[in-house]
Amino acid sequence: MPSVIVLDTLSQEGLDLLDAAPGITYEVRTGLKGDDLRKALAEFDGAICRSGVKITPEALEGNRKLKAIVRAGVGTDNINSAAATRAGVVVMNTPAGNTLSTAEHAVTLMLALSRNVAPAYQGLIEGRWDRAKYMGAQVAGKTLGVVGLGRIGLAVAKRAQAFEMRVLGYDPFMSKEKAKELGIEWYEKVDDMLPHVDYLSVHTPLTEETRNLIDIPQLERLKPGVRLINAARGGIYNEAALVEGLKSGKIGGVALDVFVEEPCTNSPLFGMPGVLCTPHLGASTEEAQTQVAVEAVQLLTDFLSTGQ
Ligand code: MLT
Repeated sequence: MPSVIVLDTLSQEGLDLLDAAPGITYEVRTGLKGDDLRKALAEFDGAICRSGVKITPEALEGNRKLKAIVRAGVGTDNINSAAATRAGVVVMNTPAGNTLSTAEHAVTLMLALSRNVAPAYQGLIEGRWDRAKYMGAQVAGKTLGVVGLGRIGLAVAKRAQAFEMRVLGYDPFMSKEKAKELGIEWYEKVDDMLPHVDYLSVHTPLTEETRNLIDIPQLERLKPGVRLINAARGGIYNEAALVEGLKSGKIGGVALDVFVEEPCTNSPLFGMPGVLCTPHLGASTEEAQTQVAVEAVQLLTDFLSTGQ
């Protein structure tokens, strides 16, 4: 009888599906690391995780039983895929479940940054009625550049268009014709798009190509006062370059949901004027977590019950 270990907190709907899966047993064991994680993984046929647990090469060492790990979410960066391949473990993800929640969060950050929502509320808490200090910017009529026109990038573009923004886009996998159909002005190179945007939002995985995609040379190409948003992966914007750009006044605002090192509770960006940060909340909605949990359980139980 195939057995499954759930390594991070999973929504109840996902657990209910596991309960109902014929011929499958499961256990929830969260917070595992080191030798405890290695030993636990060796006892099960399948594993489900979110981003909390780190599946390192050591965690898979000597494993002869595990057949698949499913990430309830998009990014599989917490799973060492080379080590999984060596151990014969298939790695899967649920790419669609949190699209809308993550896109909504990127748009939330863009709007809140433009209207100084966080510092204005902080001012009220501290007893100040700072109307003059927090003059904002309207997004209607402004230009948003979107890097990465996959599911999330496209959902952001669509929402920005509803706010009457002009949307420019870069994605090596999207044709100029398809972009045009979607009302997006297509650029062949990110660098060529940068001088034209008032806002930039990135929606790519973190790869060798996208790490430090926006660094000092790219900041120089951007308009003064540009606002930068990242709800994808930390490191696409070089964090040190963001600090420099804010200090020099080149950047008008930065909104980050993701960081090079996570958890991140100490960053030179925190507290700088024009900065708004959240602790990787893109997919943190009831709806997204239910959907990714259900998709993850379905993927894993199908895989295990067909004996692959
Ligand atoms: C994802 O990769 O699914 C999102 O970044 C959300 C998360 O990591 O939990």
